[in-house]
Amino acid sequence: MTALAWTDALALHQPCMDDTHREFVDALNAVDAARGRGLAAALQALQGLIDHSEAHFGQEDRWMAELGFEPGTCHPAQHRQILEVLHEVQRRLQREGEGALGLVDAMVPALAEWFPMHAQSMDAGLALLMAERGYEPAAG
Ligand SMILES: [Fe+2]
Ligand SMILES: [Fe+2]
Repeated sequence: MTALAWTDALALHQPCMDDTHREFVDALNAVDAARGRGLAAALQALQGLIDHSEAHFGQEDRWMAELGFEPGTCHPAQHRQILEVLHEVQRRLQREGEGALGLVDAMVPALAEWFPMHAQSMDAGLALLMAERGYEPAAG
């Protein structure tokens, strides 16, 4: 059982973005799998998801900036909100220990529900604009 499975519905046909999105799915499933192995494993997997998300969202934010998106638009704002949630769960696990593992149980399905919506709306819009403009992220 995985929290979130990769399906073709998640593919945006922007190779760089799709590779990153597969990594998000893997990192989220790693948190789900680690949760049952206790606090240390959950914290380690959560750090992996945070590291991934900072790079993933930072990359998309840079592409948006280079394409002339206003910095205050809702796509980067949604990235910031998710990072805040991840950091808050991390702080609570560090402070409260095992007793805060229930937050991970709540966070994983919430992120598994959020991610396909985000990918199919905000990221899909960005991928479309990148294609229209002939923007090549690998070179930039
Ligand atoms: Fe994304
Ligand atoms: Fe995004």
